[in-house]
Amino acid sequence: MRGVKRMLRLAWPAVLCGAIVSACGTGDRSTAADGVPVPVVAGLPDTVTFAEVAPIIRANCMPCHRAGQAGPFPLISYNDVRRKAKTVRKMVVHRWMPPWPADTTYSRFAGEKALNARQIALIAKWVDQGALLGDTSHLPPVPTYPEGSPFGKPDAVVWMPDTFRIPGDNRDRFIIAKAPFELPRDTFLRAVEFVPGNRRNVHHMNAAMIGYAQGAKHGNFLNTAYIDADSTASLNAYEALHLQNDDGTWPALTPNMVNYLPGLSPAFYPPGVGGYRIQRNGAFLMNTLHYGPSMKDTMDRSHFNLWFTATPPQRPMRELALGTLGMSPVVPPLVIPADSVKTFTTSLTVPKDISVLGINPHMHLLGKSFLAYAVPPKGDTIPLIRIKDWDFRWQYAYTFRRMLHIPAGSVIKVVAVFDNTKANRNNPYDPPRTAREPLTGHMRTTDEMLQFFVNYLDYRPGDERISLVLGKE
Ligand code: HEC
Repeated sequence: MRGVKRMLRLAWPAVLCGAIVSACGTGDRSTAADGVPVPVVAGLPDTVTFAEVAPIIRANCMPCHRAGQAGPFPLISYNDVRRKAKTVRKMVVHRWMPPWPADTTYSRFAGEKALNARQIALIAKWVDQGALLGDTSHLPPVPTYPEGSPFGKPDAVVWMPDTFRIPGDNRDRFIIAKAPFELPRDTFLRAVEFVPGNRRNVHHMNAAMIGYAQGAKHGNFLNTAYIDADSTASLNAYEALHLQNDDGTWPALTPNMVNYLPGLSPAFYPPGVGGYRIQRNGAFLMNTLHYGPSMKDTMDRSHFNLWFTATPPQRPMRELALGTLGMSPVVPPLVIPADSVKTFTTSLTVPKDISVLGINPHMHLLGKSFLAYAVPPKGDTIPLIRIKDWDFRWQYAYTFRRMLHIPAGSVIKVVAVFDNTKANRNNPYDPPRTAREPLTGHMRTTDEMLQFFVNYLDYRPGDERISLVLGKE
């Protein structure tokens, strides 16, 4: 999955509420109602053994379920998978694993992580028949993964200045952090990858980039790198991180530039598309660095990999921001009374022809489902994304497989359902309390949001043939 980048320069307070998941909680799904049917598929073998199942698991699960990755246990060998057979069955039948909330029958994206009906049916049948080993002598060797970044050697690496200690108190932590850098010169940036030091505990991360004008900032490396977001108002945190220019003004900011979630890959767009100018003196500002709960004391020191380019950004990426704190209001205003399930919409007319690169839907804990599409002045509705079973833990930025043309005058419409009843296992309150969107920059973890970001270029004829799938540009 390619990360969506944003070029829009917003005022500082507005950056507080980009695609940030400020929601907390661990979202235990194990108590979910069962009864989801296994897809019915013709032509499965009478007996399914590990020989049939292993290639599916190794291609779709092992990337995260191996040592040093985000998955809580390995899924590689027969014993690994057999030991977890029942939960594996449940996770794939519910389509909770691999994590890919978007409905692939509605719209398609680059780097999709989803099993097809046949793969799900095979795994279910294998488990139901007792997880047999079978003849595995013809299995290809277990895949190996390159050391370092899968995207090759970066041109520069920006490390967090210190390690962060994660206490073993089994709590979520939302941190605001900075990774200052000094490069040999101003240049152009093609792509950035965030690499967690501790993949088990770094749950997600969302960063903006700060660029200091020449001579505007001294002591960029001073002060602490980490501030607890739950105990500090964000603007105070930015001051504590020492982000201002020497004269107290705020530097230029490129919000929502780097996203991390397990399985999300950085965006490498065709040369000249997107990309950024990067000032030699700057910093990545992590508005949200979310550490999931840990039972034991541990630590993290993450880093950023940077790839430069000689090509200046020729087709700058722009952003439409719908909904909360954005360009179109939520209708009706986003107030979700306790004990209600309620639907909200937001829509925006596209003023000119655009080529969409990617989208990013965003809600918090009470989100239940999300639908977005574009209605052009004539012709068929353009499906954008459907998420039937919203999961606040897996908020991907989705990149289309090819640039998607949306004609001028189209109306982008978002329809979102929120569940503020007890039945929502992620409800932070029991009994439920009325939830609403934050109308100022300061947000609490239990506030709700409805946002939809659309990253686009100004349309050029032929764009719809340009692939955004990595390596096919
Ligand atoms: C993008 C990374 C990723 C991929 C791909 C992935 N997983 Fe996971 N998996 C995780 C993470 C992270 C967790 C920890 C729980 C969480 O945060 O939701 C997890 C948890 C699980 C669990 C434990 C769930 C529980 O509640 O006990 C199972 C079982 C599982 N995965 C199976 C699979 C299977 C089977 C596949 C492939 C079909 C797969 N996973 C693919 C990241 C991944």
